[in-house]
Amino acid sequence: MNNLRFPYARADLNKNDIKAVLKVLETQYLAQGQVVKKFEEKLKNKFDVSDAIICNSGTAALHSVYRSLGLNNENGIITTPITFLATANAARMCNAPVFFTDVDSKSGLMTPKKLQEAFNRVKFKVKAVVVVHLGGHLCDLEGLSKVAKKYNSFIIEDACHALGALHYGKKNSLIGSCKYSLATTFSFHAIKNITMGEGGAITTNNSNLANKIKLNISHGMIRNKREMINPPKDAPWYYQMKDIGWNYRASEISCALGLSQFKRINKIIEKRDIIANLYKNHLAHNEYISLPKFSNRKYGEGWHLFQLNIDFKKLKVKKQEFIKHLRNHSIGSQVHYIPLVYQPYYSNNEEKKFLIEAATFYNNTISIPMYTGLNKKNVRFIAKVINNFFNITN
Ligand SMILES: Cc1ncc(COP(=O)(O)O)c(C=O)c1O
Repeated sequence: MNNLRFPYARADLNKNDIKAVLKVLETQYLAQGQVVKKFEEKLKNKFDVSDAIICNSGTAALHSVYRSLGLNNENGIITTPITFLATANAARMCNAPVFFTDVDSKSGLMTPKKLQEAFNRVKFKVKAVVVVHLGGHLCDLEGLSKVAKKYNSFIIEDACHALGALHYGKKNSLIGSCKYSLATTFSFHAIKNITMGEGGAITTNNSNLANKIKLNISHGMIRNKREMINPPKDAPWYYQMKDIGWNYRASEISCALGLSQFKRINKIIEKRDIIANLYKNHLAHNEYISLPKFSNRKYGEGWHLFQLNIDFKKLKVKKQEFIKHLRNHSIGSQVHYIPLVYQPYYSNNEEKKFLIEAATFYNNTISIPMYTGLNKKNVRFIAKVINNFFNITN
């Protein structure tokens, strides 16, 4: 991917990011310091939530939420098969059962109707519905939460693609503000909308859940004497552990990078929005391609991905040929995602036969380059190469 002139994704890095990281190195305070606290405070204020917790990956964020919520072999989740492995794997790390819904074949998103169908068939207790804002496009949070509520299930937002997106509805809110969910998780992996190299975060308005999550990301260690069982007197070194926990903490170095990037999230989203609109201008007349949904309001979408929908079967061309054509012009692409039920680990799933639209989405979808470093000329070039494949001139 790195050798291509236009990979499908690339981080947005500037001199301020480098300065911020160097500053931490100069202080020589590399873990559990002030920068992680500052970053958490910044997230908390931006999303107007009671708690924001940084950790070292989106997977750690999901696992910490699931575990703190009490997922186990009797309390499972419903989620989408069109997501990265981690959304479901983190539940399996808690031994929790996972039920996959079908999705809308054009957007790849879980819909209230598909969720209702899943609830009609699922046989275990569903503690949480985990919705994924694929590519930065938002699920119908109002509709989904109505369905989940009927079954006393919580909504968890896997917003690893949707940092910076704004949800319009009865309650206008940034994704991360948890207006319809118990918790929202983010990934700050190298190619996400902002990056810590590797990193993640959780936001919630439930302080009880937040306290459990904080324990989960740091070995289950309690340092507050008031929370301990019979702590000894005059023992300042003393700590206690009542439950197992992990080391999911992020370093000060990665937090410095994340914080520096997070300060310009609006600018990053604006740039991504401009690129999406340029693609739209250059590709809209191509009758063989369906473009992703466009919000006509600023910040509506997170634009983590720009996914084309092409009916390769109807056109009697192979997706591989299209990918090869792009590669021949040094353009990267990726498929988001292989439905999880196609993975050997999840393949015994009885639901596979019902996931018809997920299969269509998988067959037809391809992600093309989307990152802030693309300029007008680059987008025009990439669109031209795409249109040429279909013998369409720009
Ligand atoms: C939708 C989704 N969920 C979860 C994750 C896991 O995040 P991380 O790679 O930071 O562990 C990712 C990252 O690729 C993702 O795209």
